[in-house]
Amino acid sequence: MKEIIEVDVKTRKVELVRCKTDILVVGRFSDAGPDEVIQALDAKLDGGIERLAKLGDFTGKPKTHAIVYADGKIAADRVLLLGLGERKKATLDTIRRAAAAAANRAVDMKVKRISLALHRSFDDHFDAAAIGRAMAEGVYLGSYRYDEYVAQNGNGRLGSLDAEIVDPDPARIKSLAPGVSAGAIIGQAQSYARTVANRPANVINPPALARMAQDLFRRVKTVSCTVFDEKKLRASRMGGILAVGSGSQSKPRLIVLKYTPAQKPAKHLPTVALVGKAVTFDSGGISIKPAQDMDQMKLDKTGGIAVLATIKALAELKLPVNVLGLIPAAENLPSGSSYRPGDIVTTYSGKTVEILNTDAEGRMILCDAITYAAERKCDVIIDVATLTGACMVALGPYKAGLMSNDDDLVGVLQKAAAESGESVWRMPTGEEYAEEMKSKIADLKNAGTRWGGACTAAAFLQQFVGQARWAHLDIAGMDVILKPTEYGCVGGTGFGVRLLTTYLMNLVKEK
Ligand code: BES
Ligand code: MN
Ligand code: ZN
Repeated sequence: MKEIIEVDVKTRKVELVRCKTDILVVGRFSDAGPDEVIQALDAKLDGGIERLAKLGDFTGKPKTHAIVYADGKIAADRVLLLGLGERKKATLDTIRRAAAAAANRAVDMKVKRISLALHRSFDDHFDAAAIGRAMAEGVYLGSYRYDEYVAQNGNGRLGSLDAEIVDPDPARIKSLAPGVSAGAIIGQAQSYARTVANRPANVINPPALARMAQDLFRRVKTVSCTVFDEKKLRASRMGGILAVGSGSQSKPRLIVLKYTPAQKPAKHLPTVALVGKAVTFDSGGISIKPAQDMDQMKLDKTGGIAVLATIKALAELKLPVNVLGLIPAAENLPSGSSYRPGDIVTTYSGKTVEILNTDAEGRMILCDAITYAAERKCDVIIDVATLTGACMVALGPYKAGLMSNDDDLVGVLQKAAAESGESVWRMPTGEEYAEEMKSKIADLKNAGTRWGGACTAAAFLQQFVGQARWAHLDIAGMDVILKPTEYGCVGGTGFGVRLLTTYLMNLVKEK
């Protein structure tokens, strides 16, 4: 797939005053002065940076910036100063967001090249590789735009952006570099996820998504992509996926991605299954949704796309860990062939489900894929889905819900969330909630009462995990940004790519 804005991120050893570039980017905390390298830069600028601070025009508050024009005093055309807020509050996300804000500005200003020295403010705060990674990820996030269907090119933006992380110290460059290349891979994967998510349902339907997956890995030796079409789904008795897909002309698919690294994984490492909901459009089906904002339901495929893009990143990072990616894909539409409220569906596990609401479709496709992962004896199963409005009501568009049967798995996912900037919050599930999902005329029902809807949905999924350690990420509300931020344009966020990749990178790193 062609990138919408082609982004390249490199490292370069260069004196900041000699750095020829369109924009040189430096950060500033609100409660700490500049380091010696930035002081030297400012001396060349005749104190232009400090003057802004003294005048009170730029004091380093978060989400503020200022531009100093160089007028030939240094090699760069301009210096972009970014506010980093209070030093003690800084996290990796502070630097990621600053890099994103810079790249976002660069695209708006239509410049070709930006050079980042943001890490200079973070001297002994964090691990250098983590800082490099956060900066590279930020560049991708901030420069992202979605305009592939704007036929009349009214925006005139450039088709590419060259970014570089610059520092005069070769040792510093060396310690940042591995993080920068990993961050570029992850950032690119997340941009890919955003583009596929943003494509509407008349472009991306289940067969089209399956073809995209096959194209993506055609020449990748470490990833096999098998697609279950309708016939194979029927032969396999995947009744949940088939029921949800039955109302649409575009037939459902199960996309099976198997990543087997060239380098043998360490013995203690688990085989991980990532299962992502890909409902390419969720109208609600016969239990149809209200018209208001129904267009947003083209984003109901983002869990599945997060899995697709994570496997892409894994293969490029060459991580030594076995991962199975499962993407059940269906379109939930009302028609004469749709599944109905009252139907009893036999799922792949053999468990029967009484359908009370055809809009509770995510769990119906996920349960078949989760059963498949459990059957393959995966040690860890992580599912990711825009599953419930209830989760959005509980957490708002700030954190994804995390439910699990394993406290250790919760711990490592919380750590990955903190590092990646994709936040999670643990929510309960288990016995009481499962009780609510029992049916009188089948093994389960697909909808409970109004209360605790995110937790009962998780309890439903838990019925299919077998012996595996399992975690569920309810990303409803995290899949979309509704107003432009430093992370680029409105639309799909690619949420989950950084979180899942970080989780897998940490697995390999630790122990
Ligand atoms: N895809 C929706 C959940 C959703 C809603 C995601 C809004 C993002 C924004 C899901 O399939 C759904 O419709 N869930 C129902 C479940 C209910 C019928 C038990 C819901 O949350 O209302
Ligand atoms: Mn639904
Ligand atoms: Zn849905």
